[in-house]
Amino acid sequence: MAFPKDFFWGGATASNQCEGAWNDDGKGESCADHLTSGSVNQPRRFTKEIEEGVNYPSHDGIDHYHRYEEDIRLFAQMGFKMYRMSINWTRIYPHGDDEKPNQAGLDHYRKVFELCKEYGIEPLVTMSHYEFPYALTKKWNGWADRRTIDCFVKYTITIMNEYKDLVRYWLTFNEINIAILGVGDTLSLGMMPKDENLDVMKKQDYTSNDMTQRLTALHHQFIASAKTIIEGKKINSNFKFGCMIAGVVSYPYTCHPKDVYAAWYREQIENFYCGDVMVRGEYHPLTKQFLDSYHAQIHQEEGDDKILREGIVDFYSLSYYLSGCSSTDPNMKKAAGNMTTGVQNPYLKSSEWGWQIDPDGLRYYLDMVYNRYKIPLMVVENGLGAKDELIDGKVHDSYRIDYLREHIKAMKKAIEDGTNVIAYTMWGCIDLVSASTGQMSKRYGFIYVDKDDEGNGTYNRYKKDSFYWYKKVIASNGEDLD
Ligand code: BG6
Repeated sequence: MAFPKDFFWGGATASNQCEGAWNDDGKGESCADHLTSGSVNQPRRFTKEIEEGVNYPSHDGIDHYHRYEEDIRLFAQMGFKMYRMSINWTRIYPHGDDEKPNQAGLDHYRKVFELCKEYGIEPLVTMSHYEFPYALTKKWNGWADRRTIDCFVKYTITIMNEYKDLVRYWLTFNEINIAILGVGDTLSLGMMPKDENLDVMKKQDYTSNDMTQRLTALHHQFIASAKTIIEGKKINSNFKFGCMIAGVVSYPYTCHPKDVYAAWYREQIENFYCGDVMVRGEYHPLTKQFLDSYHAQIHQEEGDDKILREGIVDFYSLSYYLSGCSSTDPNMKKAAGNMTTGVQNPYLKSSEWGWQIDPDGLRYYLDMVYNRYKIPLMVVENGLGAKDELIDGKVHDSYRIDYLREHIKAMKKAIEDGTNVIAYTMWGCIDLVSASTGQMSKRYGFIYVDKDDEGNGTYNRYKKDSFYWYKKVIASNGEDLD
């Protein structure tokens, strides 16, 4: 058997994309609550105030906040061993810097974790998944201000103390490397967008104007993560912490040495700039060159080096959906994707949203990362966003099964290569709001949720064909993939 017997099979969600109940029980506003719905052609808009009559998909999500019992029961029916979910900071500290935590928020997640325990499901908790207190955005411009570190660490210490007997596995920041790109400014770093840039989800490459501010904000996240890990180990020495990196696979478009170097450079910067700090406790050797190319610098304080060295992670986790190519030819056609994805690969097919499907890239990525760091890996996001049709209570989603089958096979090959992969939590195990477009119609789930892009529907849940397929995969520990 390729998969170890205690392999964590499961699924993943994020609170702002599924919970809804955006201002119930004392929850504060997060940046995600200010994002409108969009589509593949129309970028989501960030509004500085909540506007009347506008659709903000996070406000209702799929109502997981009230229906978590039904949802977790369905996960248990599939045989989940792990449920990756996030705690919304603004349920615990509504403004980010409140003196005392909000008891209703703490009680809610306790009930969720107790239920997971009852079903033998191990929670994997993301402490920050694109959810930043809007009050701190207005007050300090998010992570651009160093004072945000203390607020975050206060929040993480609160939840680690509160759930020390219920949660063992933690991720500090979701896809922390997205902060390197323009799209990360608000989504990940909680910074207030400029008036001319309210289309915050529009694909943007590195932009030179704010690189000093952005990379300093990212440095603050690194320090906050390291301090959380240092404090967490004091709270429970059995805690395990992971970084979470959006996996960037970049192939050279041609064998021209300049294309080969461009592909390699991009992988170094977009994966390992963050990976090295979080796994090795030191900045990547290319950092100086990268900063110089944008005339940028990182504002650090004395003692930061030591904090980074001491607060390293126990495992590396990643999302993986697609791959891209790198070319030095500026005229090449660009592909779509969750991070920058480079130019189109003529050998690959794309999803309906233009994301290039490449199972082999997952094996390549896992082997590459394991060879660099030699620590356990978790695939905490992977899946296919597709349109589904609900007919007579059924969804025949063979396309999703095909996608997942091929990626699980690739992960299996990586394990056979000697790479230590310990978990696979499929993204969006229940249909939820798309992060990039805000749509419901971009569905990932094993469970269909009756809600449309405008927010209409019964919110009833239905098992898709992939539900039964995944149940079999888990029961056979990844051997029966038919
Ligand atoms: C990852 C994010 O980038 O991709 C998730 O961590 C997101 O939050 C997922 O939902 C899929 O992207 P999308 O845009 O299809 O929802």
